[in-house]
Amino acid sequence: MSGPKFVQLYREDDAALRGELALGLLARPASVSPKFLYDALGSHLFEAITELPEYYPTRTERAILDRHAREVAAITGRGRTLIDLGAGSCEKAARLFDALAPLRYVAVDISIEYLRRALTNLQHRHPGIEMVGVGADFSSTLVLPPDAGRGERLLFYPGSSIGNFTPTDALRFLRQARAAGGPGGALLIGVDLVKDKATLERAYDDALRVTAAFNLNLLRRLEALLGCDARIDDFDHVALFNDAESRIEMHLQARRPLVLRWPGGERALAAGERIHTENSYKYTLDGFEALLRQAGFARTARWSDERGWFAVFLAS
Ligand code: AVI
Repeated sequence: MSGPKFVQLYREDDAALRGELALGLLARPASVSPKFLYDALGSHLFEAITELPEYYPTRTERAILDRHAREVAAITGRGRTLIDLGAGSCEKAARLFDALAPLRYVAVDISIEYLRRALTNLQHRHPGIEMVGVGADFSSTLVLPPDAGRGERLLFYPGSSIGNFTPTDALRFLRQARAAGGPGGALLIGVDLVKDKATLERAYDDALRVTAAFNLNLLRRLEALLGCDARIDDFDHVALFNDAESRIEMHLQARRPLVLRWPGGERALAAGERIHTENSYKYTLDGFEALLRQAGFARTARWSDERGWFAVFLAS
């Protein structure tokens, strides 16, 4: 057995990141891309969120995949190249290894350092699977390295991360995923579904306030990346379901009138004014199925839980 290979397709460009942050803060309403939520601490806070009783998506998706993995394999066949988009700890994909018996596992994540540890451990547990780690930011364009897998590809995009794109960007992403799958390719994707407002809002505003910490951590990033003097004590975490847009929105709301200052810019916020930090779109089964068709997927299978809270689609 040789160890996993690693390919870095993405380098952070600090000047570009600063420009992006400043532009967002100056916009009306102010906004910051959710990709800034995930520094090392943010990634740990997100892992903690997935353990919260209120945050049902992770455990509901896990139960659906555990129950139906063999049906997935019956449709896709075993021995594919499994390409995990946003792999993180790689644990979700690893639970599929028994059923899918992939020949090759390609883990893609924005943080190659996080991947390095996870994939090296996983390779010890599964010496027979060829493993590749790819550091890539596919939030705007999905590009895979040329050697990202011989044979038929199965792309895996769990966790309803698709919900963090606007529907227009989600359609663009799904089209890119179809192209990246190549001939005979398939996509296994988790999608959070519309449900009662109270359940949704609790999932994004938990009693322990872990999600609040996850959101407020953005202010530390503003300081670290932009040199902005944002203070955590000056903001409240706000999570609300926007019915018209069918999405949870996260915001940072100013507790008092204040001025954010950074080298080369400033932004005044009135008391109660918000910085929009994340959208998490919720779909209906038929709505998401229609999006897959629009993206060019001809065949779909889907599985859900008894409460109809979450769904996993297999599209080819
Ligand atoms: C990563 N993503 C699918 C999560 C979500 O539910 O939209 C991020 C998250 N934000 C707050 N809690 C979890």
